Amino acid sequence: MKQDYTYYKSIFKGRRLPLAYVDLDLFDENVRNIITRSGDKKIRVASKSVRCTNLLRRVLDSDARYQGLMCFTVAEAVYLSQLGFDDLLVAYPTTQREQLKSACSEVSGGKSLVLMVDSREHLASHQSAAAEIGVTLQVCMDVDMSSKFPGIHFGVLRSNITNEAQAAKLYEEILKCPNLKLVGLMGYEAQIAGLGDNYPGQAIKNSVVKMLKRKSITLLSARRKAAVNTLNSMGADLSLVNGGGTGSLESTREEELVTEVTVGSGFYASGLFDNFETFNHLPSAGYAIEVVRQPVPGIYTCHGGGYTASGAVAADKLPKPYLPEGAKLTPNEGAGEVQTPIAYDGPETLQLGDPVLMRHSKAGELCERFNTLLLISDGKVVDEVLTYRGEGQCFL
Ligand SMILES: Cc1ncc(COP(=O)(O)O)c(C=O)c1O
Repeated sequence: MKQDYTYYKSIFKGRRLPLAYVDLDLFDENVRNIITRSGDKKIRVASKSVRCTNLLRRVLDSDARYQGLMCFTVAEAVYLSQLGFDDLLVAYPTTQREQLKSACSEVSGGKSLVLMVDSREHLASHQSAAAEIGVTLQVCMDVDMSSKFPGIHFGVLRSNITNEAQAAKLYEEILKCPNLKLVGLMGYEAQIAGLGDNYPGQAIKNSVVKMLKRKSITLLSARRKAAVNTLNSMGADLSLVNGGGTGSLESTREEELVTEVTVGSGFYASGLFDNFETFNHLPSAGYAIEVVRQPVPGIYTCHGGGYTASGAVAADKLPKPYLPEGAKLTPNEGAGEVQTPIAYDGPETLQLGDPVLMRHSKAGELCERFNTLLLISDGKVVDEVLTYRGEGQCFL
């Protein structure tokens, strides 16, 4: 259940601000709801959207349906492997030799690391590192899931493999690499999984996005199926067919050949994920900044707070004032590097020293701003755990 301003204010009383927190009661409810939303698929946890080893473990330990991590760099996968995590799929390719060699060393120690490829250059660098360490390196092929509609590229620009014929060609090249084995296919339908379709006050845009999503789902599921069938008919034994993200579970779970879905952002349910029609996760993560000035009535200027998200510059990349309810950013200043004016005229009396709670637009990026997360449950702080940054790790 969502809590109100006074709940968090009393928990944070006397603590140093700014601070970042995760409300475990809400987090755990998201973890359970994501299982329901994923149908009968295995769920791979997108570590980039959590960036805290304690919470990654919490999700993986919560239910057998959660299996494995989707990592965002090879160095991160190696780091997690050395901490004891296993079943690590790196979703983004690299050609950096030292990183590839360190991944191969983990493999030679018996760990399961699968690296992403979509081009001959990737194959060459991976083959050479695997041969040097003397292992068979498992690789996964990234197949583009975007859709081209008249005047719009609906989706992201990542893999250059856009159909089954190109997938077959790359597989032929993989077969020529004695130290590589294709074990998986990943297709990330970003235009379904990460694009909101239920923005308040934007009815026309929402209905256009929903229509494009419907068309795109038909096309991309056919493309994924054709690519998997083609590769399997050529003798590939794909044990892993990965798809989706937080926003696409209702459609990705329907694809029979998909063996697992990926979820990350839904655990914290950051600001961008408020605007989807098919689900409503609870805002479990946030940060609190201190009211330090009141320049004019109705404006409470806080210290810091300007943690804007990555991606195309737009208002939805700004953090969202969360509590007290009704607090807003000002259009002239937004969320600032050292000061963030908050407009508020609700019933709470805000005084200097009080916290204002904010939510990041993207999930894991919050952890790049704080060394620790306060874990809250049942009205109190139950733990304080390190983020990746707090562990001295900065991967991207
Ligand atoms: C390859 C891939 N899969 C899945 C996801 C979805 O992650 P999330 O659930 O955090 O939106 C992403 C996000 O960018 C991604 O790049």
